[in-house]
Amino acid sequence: MQGSANLNLMIKAARKAGRALVKDFREVENLQVSSKGPGDFVTKADREAERIIKEDLMGARPTYGWLGEETGETAGADPTRRWIVDPLDGTTNFLHGLPHWAVSIALEHKGEIVSAVVFDAAKDEMYWAEKGAGTWMNESRLRVSGRRQMIESIFATGVPFGGKGTLPATLQDLARLMPVCAGVRRWGAASLDLAYVAAGRYDGYWERGIQPWDMAAGILLVREAGGMVSGIREGDDPLEKGAVICGNQNLFEPFRKVIRGE
Ligand code: IPD
Repeated sequence: MQGSANLNLMIKAARKAGRALVKDFREVENLQVSSKGPGDFVTKADREAERIIKEDLMGARPTYGWLGEETGETAGADPTRRWIVDPLDGTTNFLHGLPHWAVSIALEHKGEIVSAVVFDAAKDEMYWAEKGAGTWMNESRLRVSGRRQMIESIFATGVPFGGKGTLPATLQDLARLMPVCAGVRRWGAASLDLAYVAAGRYDGYWERGIQPWDMAAGILLVREAGGMVSGIREGDDPLEKGAVICGNQNLFEPFRKVIRGE
């Protein structure tokens, strides 16, 4: 893999955390689980994976800022750069023995994601992208799908777990979208939903009520694979507003219109 020093660092950290997670995944029934709220679980596996990633990345780049799902936000001496990390995206799948979860690491520079890694450790699929250098899975270059018709297309989403305020809007989205497309999938790991759009497996993805660490890396994967990404409301920044929509170039506008109810 040919990437910048930062990307190589991210890939190394993701592999290390991924190895530890795969070990825990094999013995998942022995993991102690605590709940941060309805449907929002954390285990020693999430915490240990974040510790590994933080030690590697902050050890190598101590001036960068940090935003991690388990350890929160720390400002860096360099205010222009920060790591955005979800050590285990898809925790609920992980806990149920479903091999659909990932390590997600993004590097932001001046408010823009410039390097991204999403590692599906259970399947040994390393998705990575750098601004201007395309999106790759292991050694293969990825491109978004070329589909043009909504009715032939598959979209993915995340339905927020119990009690989140965005549930009614998501159900309305589904009611508008399902009759005009080939199907909607809800697999439970936002970073992989975005990676699958980049790989052309899904034609688009949207989610309301989503955290920056779930989507930061995946957004660059989609953009660098030739896809389009925005907030759901006109002019909104996905990371700031916690809502994202993306798709291939042909479908992005019609898909966004359906989701916006236009
Ligand atoms: C969750 C997953 C899920 C999405 C939720 C996220 P977590 O992340 O990405 O697909 O629908 O919004 O919170 O909690 O498993 O890291």
